[in-house]
Amino acid sequence: MSEEPMKEFVAEEGNITVPSTRMLGIESSCDDTSIAVLEGNVVRSQFTAVQHIHAKYGGVVPEFASRAHQRHILPVLEGALAQAGCALSDLDGIAYTRGPGLNGSLLVGSSFARGLAWSLDLPLWPIHHMRAHVLAHWISGSDSPKQPMMALTVSGGHTQLVDVASPWELNVVGTTLDDAAGEAFDKVAKMIGLPYPGGPEVDRLAQLGDPQAFQFTTPQITGLDFSFSGLKTSVLRTLEKNQAQRTKNIAWKQDVCASLQHTIVAILVSRLEKATDHFGRKAVAIQGGVSANSGLRKAVQALAEKRGWEVHIPPFEYCTDNGAMIAMAGQFSSMKNAQGRLDEGPLPRWPMT
Ligand code: KG4
Ligand code: ZN
Repeated sequence: MSEEPMKEFVAEEGNITVPSTRMLGIESSCDDTSIAVLEGNVVRSQFTAVQHIHAKYGGVVPEFASRAHQRHILPVLEGALAQAGCALSDLDGIAYTRGPGLNGSLLVGSSFARGLAWSLDLPLWPIHHMRAHVLAHWISGSDSPKQPMMALTVSGGHTQLVDVASPWELNVVGTTLDDAAGEAFDKVAKMIGLPYPGGPEVDRLAQLGDPQAFQFTTPQITGLDFSFSGLKTSVLRTLEKNQAQRTKNIAWKQDVCASLQHTIVAILVSRLEKATDHFGRKAVAIQGGVSANSGLRKAVQALAEKRGWEVHIPPFEYCTDNGAMIAMAGQFSSMKNAQGRLDEGPLPRWPMT
C-alpha cells in the first residue's frame, strides 16, 4: 500500500482515473452493517443496517453487535444489489473491512466476504477501516482531492491526523493519547442522560446553547497529538457541582453541549491548522463519524477560507461507517493489485502504517 501508484492510472495533471470495475464494499467493523456497489468511484447503491439494541446499554455490546451483523448481512447485500440493479455475477471484486474493529463484528463481514469471493471466484481486497475513511474523499459527488492534504479522521474509536500525499501514501502524523473525539462526545452525553450514540444529540442541543457558558479544560500537549480524557474529567467536575440541574434543566444541558462541542472543535481545528502548516499543505479534509458534526464542519470551512486552503468534507452518508468507502478503498487496492487471501482472518488491532 505504500508504493507509488501504477503509472497507467495517473493522468498528466495528477488526477487519478479509477478503473470502471464494479466493486462490492462490505463494512462490519463496529455496529453498522453497510454494503455498497461502486462502479469506478460512482456509488450505484449503499444499504446500511443500524443496530439500535446498543442504545439500551449506552454503548456498543460486542456480542450483540456480531449477532446482529449475522442477521443483517444477507438482507443488506440483497438490498444493495437490488438497488444497484445488478446480480452477483456482475461484480468484479469484493472489498471488506479486515480491521481494526471489534473481533466478532469483523469476523462476520470477513467470513462473508471471503465466502463470496471464493464462491464467485472474484478477487478479494482486505481493507483497513481508517484508511477507507480517508479514501471516502475520492467517492464521486464531491471534489476529489487533487493535491496533498492534511486529513483529520475523527470517529468513535480514533482521532488521527493523516498526511495524504496520494490514496496510497497515508502517514499518521498525530493521534490521540487516550480517548477519541467521538468517545468524548458519547461519554459526556451519557453523563447528562442523552441517548447513545451521544454525538448527534450533543450536536443538536449545542445549537441551542451558549458555547461560552462553561470553560472546560483543554489539553496542554505540544506536538500534533490529542487528548480528551482531561476534558471529560473537567465536564464531570462541573456536573458534580451542578447535581440539581444535571437531569432536569434542558437549557443547562444545551449550555453543557454547546461548551463541550466548542471545546472539542477548538482542539481539533487548532491541531489541524498546526499540522497543515508544519507539512506545508494547502488542502485540508475531515472524515469519520464526528465529521458529521455541524460545529466542526463550519469551523473547518472557516479555517480553510481564512487560510485560502482547499477543503474536503464528505457527504454525510460517507462520514459515518459505510460500505462505499470500503469499496472505494478496494478500487485503489485493485490498482496496486494488493489482493488478499481466502485464509486471512480479521485484524482487530491492525496498525495504520
Ligand atoms: O466513524 P463512525 O461511524 O464509527 C467509528 O468508526 O467509530 O463514528 C461514530 C462516532 C460516534 O462517536 C458518534 O457519536 C459520532 O461519530 N458522531 C458525531 C456526530 N455524528 C456521529 N459526533 C458529533 N456530532 C455529530 N453530528
Ligand atoms: Zn469508522
